[in-house]
Amino acid sequence: MASVVLRNLTKQYSGNNAPSLDMLNLEIADGEFVCLVGPSGCGKTTALRMIAGLEDVTSGEIEIGGRIVNDLPSRDRDIALVFQSYALYPHLTVADNMSFGLKLRKVPKAEIEQAVQSAAKILDLVDLLKRKPAQLSGGQRQRVALGRALVRDPAVFLMDEPLSNLDAKLRVQTRAEIAQLHHRLQATMLYVTHDQVEAMTMADRIAVINLGVLEQYGTPRDLYNFPNNQFVAGFIGSPSMNFVSMRINRDVERVHLTGMSADSNIKVTLTDEQSDILRKSDGSDIVVGVRPEHLIEGSIDHAGFSAVAKVEVIEFLGNDEHIHATSDETDLVAILNAHSSVARGDSITLSAPLDTVHFFDPTSGLRLS
Ligand SMILES: Nc1ncnc2c1ncn2[C@@H]1O[C@H](COP(=O)(O)OP(=O)(O)OP(=O)(O)O)[C@@H](O)[C@H]1O
Ligand SMILES: [Mg+2]
Repeated sequence: MASVVLRNLTKQYSGNNAPSLDMLNLEIADGEFVCLVGPSGCGKTTALRMIAGLEDVTSGEIEIGGRIVNDLPSRDRDIALVFQSYALYPHLTVADNMSFGLKLRKVPKAEIEQAVQSAAKILDLVDLLKRKPAQLSGGQRQRVALGRALVRDPAVFLMDEPLSNLDAKLRVQTRAEIAQLHHRLQATMLYVTHDQVEAMTMADRIAVINLGVLEQYGTPRDLYNFPNNQFVAGFIGSPSMNFVSMRINRDVERVHLTGMSADSNIKVTLTDEQSDILRKSDGSDIVVGVRPEHLIEGSIDHAGFSAVAKVEVIEFLGNDEHIHATSDETDLVAILNAHSSVARGDSITLSAPLDTVHFFDPTSGLRLS
């Protein structure tokens, strides 16, 4: 096993205006499971392909297991790559697909046999070893692709959206299998996905990338509780965090926040300490963020967020329901218990305690602590 360190890793494709990856710095510890997440086109695959040695590095350094590998060919980097498309050979059996790479390397036959058997056992493929890929389900094919990586016993596993071709149920199941596999092998894994739920559930640490730039690197809990900026706050969590532009009112007594309209239905009451901080600041506006799961119906008697809103749409999900409501022409989403008696067209109060409310600079989008 090995650690991976990326230093100022940059990729500029010729003909493109902006770099696809811009000065990425990332340390992945030995045995760690790190997810690279971000919207489509943000540079995730580009990063992975450079680490794998399939793409030239424009500038920066890639270190695997303490050695700079920039000039090392892919096959000497001791990595295994699992693609979104399983890329299995259709004319080879499961066993032959799994052993193909080892045969190329002239690994002794007995050793190959042993590696395939052991991987097949771990991935529950023992009964399928003689089949061809066409005779397998999508989930089984994906396991074969994992098996092919596993037999190589690499220092680092690199995976590019390996679950995106699976249906929702199978994705959840395979997600758990990969997490288990990681615990079992204690292997270093770098896993690319655009699905923040996948990242949140599997990763030790998550790197959020946007437009080729690293926005934040931290544990799932850190990213959820303390997003560095509005991008990360909106990307992590589902449904997304609500954002409301608000005005800072510096009254004689204390500072409070209201929506932008004169007779606003949205307000935030602050603690004395926050009140003092904002009194000394010179901005007149602020962006307030509240997660749908932190909103409750009704008022709260301590400091926090509250909005009087009109219910527009209710999405029933069994245990919960998602309420889409409007207040001062701002859309708010709240997750309420499905037993609530809220109906479409109702005027309701949505509140959240202050310790769940986030504040962002309206210009830079940075978190205000
Ligand atoms: N060979 C290439 N030549 C020129 N531009 C490229 C090339 N490959 C990727 N790009 C550009 O680099 C940017 C990042 O692409 P990349 O494939 O890394 O995105 P991604 O984050 O993996 O997206 P997705 O989630 O859709 O897979 C994109 O704007 C893409 O158009
Ligand atoms: Mg990609």
